Amino acid sequence: MMMTEVNKRKLVLPRLVLTFLLLFTSITNVVAGTTSRFVRSEWPSVDIPLDHEVFAVPKGPNAPQQVHITQGDYDGKAVIVSWVTPDEPGLSQVHYGTSEKKYDFTAEGIFSNYTFYQYKSGYIHQCLLDGLQYDTKYYYKIGNGESAREFWFRTPPKINPNASYKFGIIGDLGQTYNSLSTLEHYIQSGANTVLFVGDLSYADRYQYNDVGIRWDSWGRLAERSAAYQPWIWCAGNHEIDYMPYMGEVVPFKSYLHRYPTPYMASKSSNPLWYAIRRASAHIIVLSSYSPFVKYTPQWQWLREEFKKVNRDETPWLIVLMHVPMYNSNEAHFMEGESMRAVFEEWFVHYRVDIVFAGHVHAYERSYRISNIHYNVSAGDRYPIADKSAPVYITVGDGGNQEGLAGKFRDPQPDYSAFREASYGHSTLEIKNRTHAIYHWNRNDDGTKVPTDGFVLHNQHWGTNLRRRKLKKHHLRDVVGWIASS
Ligand SMILES: *[C@@H]1O[C@H](CO)[C@@H](O)[C@H](O)[C@H]1NC(C)=O
Ligand SMILES: *[C@@H]1O[C@H](CO)[C@@H](O)[C@H](O)[C@H]1NC(C)=O
Ligand SMILES: *[C@@H]1O[C@H](CO)[C@@H](O)[C@H](O)[C@H]1NC(C)=O
Ligand SMILES: *[C@@H]1O[C@H](CO)[C@@H](O)[C@H](O)[C@H]1NC(C)=O
Ligand SMILES: [Fe+2]
Repeated sequence: MMMTEVNKRKLVLPRLVLTFLLLFTSITNVVAGTTSRFVRSEWPSVDIPLDHEVFAVPKGPNAPQQVHITQGDYDGKAVIVSWVTPDEPGLSQVHYGTSEKKYDFTAEGIFSNYTFYQYKSGYIHQCLLDGLQYDTKYYYKIGNGESAREFWFRTPPKINPNASYKFGIIGDLGQTYNSLSTLEHYIQSGANTVLFVGDLSYADRYQYNDVGIRWDSWGRLAERSAAYQPWIWCAGNHEIDYMPYMGEVVPFKSYLHRYPTPYMASKSSNPLWYAIRRASAHIIVLSSYSPFVKYTPQWQWLREEFKKVNRDETPWLIVLMHVPMYNSNEAHFMEGESMRAVFEEWFVHYRVDIVFAGHVHAYERSYRISNIHYNVSAGDRYPIADKSAPVYITVGDGGNQEGLAGKFRDPQPDYSAFREASYGHSTLEIKNRTHAIYHWNRNDDGTKVPTDGFVLHNQHWGTNLRRRKLKKHHLRDVVGWIASS
């Protein structure tokens, strides 16, 4: 049957509507998030053999090894230096000063040792250097004679809302060739402090005495960065080391002996959760594997810590945890729900700027969203856009031996802005109290490739007007980055 002119004209309008709809949908798709189609070529996720030079034991009898530092107080005027002497305790002393080879000060520390199955650890030293000057380069020496080793670090600027500072974010590192690549790319980034979101050595993938041996090798691998700048530690599931088959049932035994944190400075009762302030940032570290429900010590501590946050002094509020609260990967899906139900409301109320997590071996970034209205007798069960909410970023892609979490859930949820399963690290470059520049850098099998990035506007110092503008910029930046990658 032939179509009449009238009928044809009638069809024009629906066609226009359809065209608009299609156009609109394709825009919404971009806005709703991108699943990167980048597929990395294979590079085996195997641990580097123990006799490889990256694990080399330093020369000299009983020479200090596995040197690493972390912040030693609340505000950045102290550093904890930690190292291992393999054969005998030796001195727990650190000589330090502000000019090279000239050590005006000496600090005295302590050491401990532990067993794990039949493995006997070396002597693990911890030494606090305090009363340091801000924004100053310090040189330090440990060990003596032919076994002496020298390093340096730079203290952060004094707490100041306008201070600029560059953080790096690494998670789930392990000790494979991919881990080494991440570490090398991170070192090139020029960032000043690592926010480490858990799962250090993956030594628990080994059995019996090899567990302790792989904690040691990881310490020697990480030293190339961790001896020169603080790594802010957060515990993951691979730190639990619960291995009843060999009689090891004390959680976090190796980790707690080896990686001290300044928890008492923030009135925490446990090294697994604490807070520090550094330059213009207030950083809160949580433990996904310690009790956190209402009335537990971690919950009570966090409630008090949030009250202490002063955005006039430290405009940037950053939270670190191991298990992500927003994760659209098949791997570890929903594991963060229990903590989200307890803490998300506070994150929104206190306007946390950004939450970093690891655990999932891929990269994912959310929009500012929250899901705090749901309760079992009400039906509001979907995350909604919320300008008071943090951005959630998962960087569990340091490169450990378990490989990548390559299977994202389909379709991509609206709250998920960008996701990609490859190895890398992030940097957060705070410029002043209003602006920070965030990047995720994919290793891309040897070459550092910046892949995702945006300008982060401060939750406290960005006005509503500014935030609304940001939303547009933010999306444009994201689309721009994706387009240029
Ligand atoms: C610690 O070292 C001392 C001295 O070498 C040794 O006697 C002790 O057994 C060690 N303790 C543990 C728990 O390994
Ligand atoms: C920080 O910078 C802002 C904007 O330039 C200025 O108004 C404020 O006084 C500065 N604050 C401090 C403590 O220097
Ligand atoms: C649960 O949700 C309903 C509907 O929004 C609300 O009236 C009620 O106060 C909520 N209860 C709790 C304990 O949050
Ligand atoms: C803060 O940094 C941003 C980005 O570098 C810059 O555009 C802005 O002018 C700075 N604000 C002030 C008050 O210096
Ligand atoms: Fe994990």
